[in-house]
Amino acid sequence: MSARILDGKSIAAELRAEIAAAVAAMKAATGRVPGLGVVLVGDNPASRSYVTAKEKACAAAGIHSREINLPAQSSREEILAAVRALNADDAIDGILVQLPLPDSSIEREVIEAIDPAKDVDGFHPTNVGRMVLGLPSFVPCTPNGVVEILRRAGVPLAGASVVVVGRSQIVGRPLSILLSQKGVDATVTLCHTRTKDIARHTREADIVVVAAGRPHTLTAEMVRPGAVVIDVGVNRVPDASKAAGYRLAGDVDFDAVSAKASAITPVPGGVGPMTIAMLLHNTVEAARRRRSAAS
Ligand code: GUN
Repeated sequence: MSARILDGKSIAAELRAEIAAAVAAMKAATGRVPGLGVVLVGDNPASRSYVTAKEKACAAAGIHSREINLPAQSSREEILAAVRALNADDAIDGILVQLPLPDSSIEREVIEAIDPAKDVDGFHPTNVGRMVLGLPSFVPCTPNGVVEILRRAGVPLAGASVVVVGRSQIVGRPLSILLSQKGVDATVTLCHTRTKDIARHTREADIVVVAAGRPHTLTAEMVRPGAVVIDVGVNRVPDASKAAGYRLAGDVDFDAVSAKASAITPVPGGVGPMTIAMLLHNTVEAARRRRSAAS
């Protein structure tokens, strides 16, 4: 079997066109457009390229963006001041602090300084708690993008057995909560570095989502024929034949797994573009909520 390629890039383009139309309607009705504030600390090349991609997508959708770029050695107070400036900026509806920070020990405190009404990443404890309770909240962009790609590709989720590999705060853990929510109704197993035999779980799954941050985490022997495979990994693998000196690879052994699965996301062009589309979606939603709260 050769798997159907789940083309995140074209699904995200559809979503972005819907978002651009919503932004244009908001501008016509209110004279204002949604605004996204981005804090980038340091010059990590991967983070820089993610932030540039997010800002370009904002511009294409008609969303205003403001970037605060701080040097890597910025103090905790300087980073908190940048977040507070965006909290206080009325033109800004959504805030994201690109992670990881050079000093990861302050990430929690920085995220908790974001106004929960502007927390379009859905990382603030208020939004995490509301999501767990099934209340309206901002849902983290990558897990939301994974659910949306499955929905728009017509993959049945109710009653499906889903294995998520990786328990990060940003992807695996929130995804396990979203998929098991009432209305989505999947049965979820969350595997991680201390799981005894990951293959025993993945081999039984209708859907496998891999967000482990390591190439070749999922090999062909680990999936059952006909499974749906979602690859969240974005790894820079050294490759002298490329001008950049590296190529992007996911967490899945794509060539071997795509010969066995019924559907699979590529890297690049799978989950990545969906993450950005969901960020724009959350920013428009934040603008709607803030303006209806203000009126
Ligand atoms: N770093 C990797 N993924 C993300 C994300 O979704 N949001 C933020 N803020 N940082 C990230």
